[in-house]
Amino acid sequence: MAVKKQSKAAKKQPKTAKKQPKAAKKQSKVAAKKQPKAAAKKQPKKRLPTKVAKKKQVKVAKTETGKISTGQYGYFDDENKEYVLRIPATPIKWCNYVGTLAFGGIVDATGGTVLCKGDPALNRITKYISQMPCSDFKGSTIYIRIKDKDHVRILSPFVVPTCTMWDKWECRIGLSYTKWIAEGFGLKVTVVVFVPSKSSTLIQDISIENVSRKNMEIDVVPVYEFSHFDALKQLTNADWVPQTMTVEAHKEKSGHVILEQYAFMKKQYAVNYFTASLPADSFDGDRREFLGFNEITGWAAPSTLYKGKLSNSTALRGDNIAAQLFKFKLAPKKVGRVATQLGQEESIAAAMPAIKKYRDLKNVDRAFADLADFWKHYLAALQVKTPDASFNSMINVHNPRQCHTTKNWSRYLSLYQLGFGSDRGIGYRDSSQDLLGVMSHMPEEARVLAENLLSVQLEGGNAMHQYFPSTMEANEGDSREKEDRPKYYGDDHLWIVLTVASYLKETGNMEFLKKEIPFYNKKKELEAREKGTVLEHLKRSLAFSWNDRGAHGIPHLGFADWNDTVNLPTGAESLFNANLFAKALLEMIDICEAIEDKELVEQYKNWYEEIKAQVNKTAWDGEWYVRWFDEKGEPLGSSKNQYNKIDSLGQSWPVISGIASEEYAKTALDSVNKLLNTKNGIKLSWPGYNGFDPHVGGVSTYPPGAKENGGIFLHANPWVMIAETIIGNGDRAFQYYSQINPAEKNNGKISEFESEPYCYPQNILGSEHKQFGLARNAWLSGTSSWTYQAATQYILGIKATFKGLSVNPCIPKAWKEFSVSRKFRDAVYEISVKNPNGVSKGVKSVTIDGNAIEGNVLPILTGKKHIVEVVMGE
Ligand code: GLC
Repeated sequence: MAVKKQSKAAKKQPKTAKKQPKAAKKQSKVAAKKQPKAAAKKQPKKRLPTKVAKKKQVKVAKTETGKISTGQYGYFDDENKEYVLRIPATPIKWCNYVGTLAFGGIVDATGGTVLCKGDPALNRITKYISQMPCSDFKGSTIYIRIKDKDHVRILSPFVVPTCTMWDKWECRIGLSYTKWIAEGFGLKVTVVVFVPSKSSTLIQDISIENVSRKNMEIDVVPVYEFSHFDALKQLTNADWVPQTMTVEAHKEKSGHVILEQYAFMKKQYAVNYFTASLPADSFDGDRREFLGFNEITGWAAPSTLYKGKLSNSTALRGDNIAAQLFKFKLAPKKVGRVATQLGQEESIAAAMPAIKKYRDLKNVDRAFADLADFWKHYLAALQVKTPDASFNSMINVHNPRQCHTTKNWSRYLSLYQLGFGSDRGIGYRDSSQDLLGVMSHMPEEARVLAENLLSVQLEGGNAMHQYFPSTMEANEGDSREKEDRPKYYGDDHLWIVLTVASYLKETGNMEFLKKEIPFYNKKKELEAREKGTVLEHLKRSLAFSWNDRGAHGIPHLGFADWNDTVNLPTGAESLFNANLFAKALLEMIDICEAIEDKELVEQYKNWYEEIKAQVNKTAWDGEWYVRWFDEKGEPLGSSKNQYNKIDSLGQSWPVISGIASEEYAKTALDSVNKLLNTKNGIKLSWPGYNGFDPHVGGVSTYPPGAKENGGIFLHANPWVMIAETIIGNGDRAFQYYSQINPAEKNNGKISEFESEPYCYPQNILGSEHKQFGLARNAWLSGTSSWTYQAATQYILGIKATFKGLSVNPCIPKAWKEFSVSRKFRDAVYEISVKNPNGVSKGVKSVTIDGNAIEGNVLPILTGKKHIVEVVMGE
C-alpha cells in the first residue's frame, strides 16, 4: 500500500521541477522501470505542452541522454576515469569496491554496502544478502523526506528501496569511490561514498541543493544495518546472535550523536560507530522501531519517516541499525551538506580523533583529493597510447584498477564469493597470481602479501590452499571435503616462485631472498615453527613437485591443479602442473643466475630438461597435448575421450613454459582456434560433460558450457594470448584480447553479457549453453592480472628483467605505432614504438635519449625521464 502511495507521489512533479529537462525526466523514469531498449527508444514526444517547449526540451534531451543509446545502461567517461551508469535497473547488481581489505568492501550501484574490517568472514560490519533483489534494502540506504504542506514525500537518491523516479539519475563508478547525482522534486542530491586512505571510516558525503524557486524543508536520513561480526553466524543463528547485538547512543553537548554498535563479546575490543558532521535531530538503533508497525511496511516506506522524528531507540538485542535524521532549511540555490562516518575502532574513545577529523568537511574534501592522488600515482606506473581506444581505456584505468581490487580481496569478498565461513579466505594460488598484476604499480605492498603467502607454505614445500588474514590460520580448501582424495593442490606452491621472481625483477631487491619466513605448521605456535629464507621456500616448492611425480614422470595432480573442479582419484598426473613447474624452473634459473649460484642453475636446468622430455614424450595427442593422466594412466583432454577432448591450458602452457617445439606450439594453438575459440572468448575445454561423473568430480556438476565445464573461463584466455605472442602471432593475440574486452560489451552487447562492462567477469557461458554470452562473477578473477600481463608484457611487450626493461612487442600488423610510459626502478621510460613495415614482432633498432643500444633490453637507469625510440621490423 505504502509503495503505491510513493510512486503516485513521485509522479506528481513539484512546480519547481518544471525547470528540469522533461525528456531526461521521462527517460530516467522509464529506465528505472523497464529494459534499456524501451528506455532509449522512448523519446519524449507526447505530453509536451507547447511547440516551443518541445523544441527546447528535445534539445536538452539530446545532451542529457546523448551519451547512451539503445542497449546501453551507461557510458565510459575516460577523462574522469569513471563509468557513468544512467539506468539503475541493470540486469544484475553492478558494483564498485571502496577502501582495501584492511577496511572497506563493496558498494553497489543502488546504494547497498558490504563493509568489513580486515576479514570478511570474521569481522563484518554491514548486513548484505547478495541473493536478494536490488530493490531490497542491502545494508544501507539514504532517505530524503520533503514536507510540502501536509504531504510527506520519501525519496532515495539510490532509487531503491523507495522506488523513486528521478528526473535525472546517474551513478559514477570511480576509482575507489561511487558518486550518485539525482535530480528531481526541486532537488539536486549528490552522494559520494569512499574510504579515506589508511582509515577505518566509510564516508558518505551528502549534498542537497535546492534547485526550486521556493524555500524547502528537507530531512536526510542515512541508515545502515549491522551484521554480527561473524558473517556466517549472522545467517545461520537467530538465537545467540540477536541476544548479543547492542546499540548504544552517545549524545554530545554539541548535539552530535554517536551510535555505538557491538556484539556483546566484542564490547571491550571492537565497536562500530556511526556519526556525522552535523548534530542529529533524532536517531534509531533498533530496526523494528525505525521501520515501525512491527516492520510490516518494510524498507520501502518506514513508518517512522511519516512521523516527525525518529524514535531515538537504542537496542539491547535484536536487529541493529544506525539511522540519524538531519534537518535542512534551504532557500533556493542553497546547498546543505552532511558527511556521515561508519567506522570501527577499539572503543569510542579510540575513534574520537577520526570522528573529529571527518566532522570537518575540509578534511573530507582533503581525504577525497588524497584518494585521487593515490590513483594518479598508482596508474602512472604504466600508461599507453595505442590505435585502439577501448584497449587504452582498459589498460590505463580499468584493468590496473581491477588488479588492485583482486590484490586486496583475492577471491574472498564479492557479490558471488560471499566471504562467509571458512569456504574462502586469501587463496594461495589466486593471490600469488594477483600480485603479478600489481607488481609494476605497488611492488612493496605485493611483497608484504607474498610474505604472508610464504608463511602458509608447509615444511614439505607444498602450500595450504587459503588463509584468513586476521588470524593467519590456513586450511586445505575444498580438498578437506573428500576423504579419499589428496589433501593438497598440485599447483599452489609453484605460483609463488613466479611471484617472487617478478618482485625481484621489478625492484632488484635481491636481499629479499635472504629474509627468514616461517613454514606453516598447525600444531606449533608461530615462534616454534621452522623458518627458512625466501630462497629456501622457493627451493622447497620446486623440490616438492620434482619428488611428487607419477607413472609418466609428470607431477601429480593432488586434489586439483589450477582447475579446481577436476578432482581425479589419487595417483593422477597433471600436465598443467608439469608446465607450471617448468615455468617456475625457468624463473628460478633466472634468479639463481642473478645471484650466481651455478650449482643450483645446473640442477634446475637438468630438472627442466627432464620434464620437457617427459611431457613431449608422453602427452602429445596428435593435434594437441593431453591435459591429465588419471590414476590408471589414461589420458584426459585427448581425442580419445568422449567429453573434455581438448583443454585450453593443455595448449597454452606448454608454449608459456617453453616445452612445446615450434611445430607442436603452432599445431596446438591452431587446434585451440579451431575447437575452442568463439566470438565471446575461448572455451576452457570441449565438449562439456553432460551429467555428473564422480570419477572427475566437480566439473561435471555444471551443465555443458558453464564455468569449467566447457564455459569461457576467462582466466585461461590471456594464457592463449601470451602463447600466441610467443609464436609471433600478434593479430590473433589481439583478436583474443578484444573479444573478451568488457568495455567492448558496452556497445550493444550488455543485454546478452549482463555483467559490468568496466571489469572482467570470471566466466561467460560457452557455445554449448543456450545462454551463450552471459557473464557472471565480476571483479575477483585471475583474468584481471593475466589479461593485464598479456596486454602490457606480451602484446606491448614491456617486461621487467634482471638486466633491465625488455621491449619485445607482438602487435597487430595494422598498428603503425604505439607508445608506453613505464616507471621502472628509479626512472620513467617514455617508449615510442614505430612499425613502418607492418610486422607483428621483431625489434630492428632501439635508441635511448638519442643513443643507439644493442639488443632490446633497456638498461637500468636513474634520472627522471628517458626517451626511448624503438623501430620494429625484420
Ligand atoms: C576460481 C578459483 C581459482 C581456480 C579457478 C579455476 O577462479 O578461485 O583458484 O584456479 O576457479 O578452477
